[in-house]
Amino acid sequence: MTTATARAYPNIALVKYWGKQDEDLILPVAGSLSLTLDAFPTTTTVALDAATGTDTDIDTFSLNGAVASADATGRVTRFLDRVRELAGSETRATVTSTNEAPTGAGLASSASGFAALATAAAAAYGLDLDRRDLSRLARRGSGSASRSLVDGLAVWHAGDDAHSYAEAVAGPDMRMVIVTVDTAQKAVSSRAAMRRTALTSPFFPAWISSTEESLAAMLEACAADDFTRVGRITESHALRMHAVIQSCDPPIRYLAPTSVAVFDAVAALREQGLEAYSTADAGPNVAVIVRPEQAEDLRDALAGFGSVRLVGAGDGARLIDAGATAA
Ligand code: ADP
Ligand code: DP6
Ligand code: CO
Repeated sequence: MTTATARAYPNIALVKYWGKQDEDLILPVAGSLSLTLDAFPTTTTVALDAATGTDTDIDTFSLNGAVASADATGRVTRFLDRVRELAGSETRATVTSTNEAPTGAGLASSASGFAALATAAAAAYGLDLDRRDLSRLARRGSGSASRSLVDGLAVWHAGDDAHSYAEAVAGPDMRMVIVTVDTAQKAVSSRAAMRRTALTSPFFPAWISSTEESLAAMLEACAADDFTRVGRITESHALRMHAVIQSCDPPIRYLAPTSVAVFDAVAALREQGLEAYSTADAGPNVAVIVRPEQAEDLRDALAGFGSVRLVGAGDGARLIDAGATAA
């Protein structure tokens, strides 16, 4: 197969990944847990240059209808180098991708992006990988992408290369309201901010042990089907991540005043019996979890803070077009 198209959805972490123990292999300092969404997909096509009749020594990457930046293209090329190493190929590729979520705004475009790219590239280069190996491969593009191979709730294990993949976990049925307060690309990428946190925050060791504790508690809460416990862990853990990020030198702050206002509004709604809990990844946009039966009320209550979208659990990355095989 020489061209392939895949679709993947972003995932929002309830227990966050923030810090690498190996920057090259993208192995996390601790495990994490997320919900893959059923909205905001990325669709990516990989065409090997052999199929398009071109013979170049560079990969080309266009994102959202424009030629991507040198940085973003370099990241795609390094990822394809890994795929080529596995496939024993030297053929370059043309990659075309569209994100329905804003890119680089804390709504997990790197997760849907590299999950879709891993799935499409593996097919285009003829690799026969199971879901676990695709999760390990996607991880090499962006750590959080490992989890977008999985349907619904996913745990991504820390560990060595062979054992660091995501897999499904059972848990309470929930919905999420995404409150988009700003679609601008973040000033500091997740990758750079994570590195700065590890190198400069005096709180980083405590963050690692606290994440391990949060994940163990979260897995228990999921197994017990306990939405309240899942929610409490989610919100307090998110605030801890933003605290450790703010403690960098020089400091980084991803939450905007409106983001904080959403956290406050959700806390006030809880007092009134609408049980919901906030989280935010590396950006100002807030994701709020809620029981299915209260989801529409929550969406309506948060409509004044930005554009709101009610989403549910979605599918892991899938090939949507296996394309043509070159004659
Ligand atoms: P986000 O919060 O959106 O995940 P990150 O800082 O983690 O932000 O990652 C943003 C980067 O991910 C982009 O600058 C680009 O390098 C990469 N990226 C985003 N979308 C795609 C895509 N569809 N395909 C490949 N790479 C992508
Ligand atoms: C705050 O996976 O985007 O969203 O591995 O360097 O590409 P890289 O980082 P990325 O980091 C995600 C950070 C987070 C938390 C999470 O998704 O777990
Ligand atoms: Co990201």
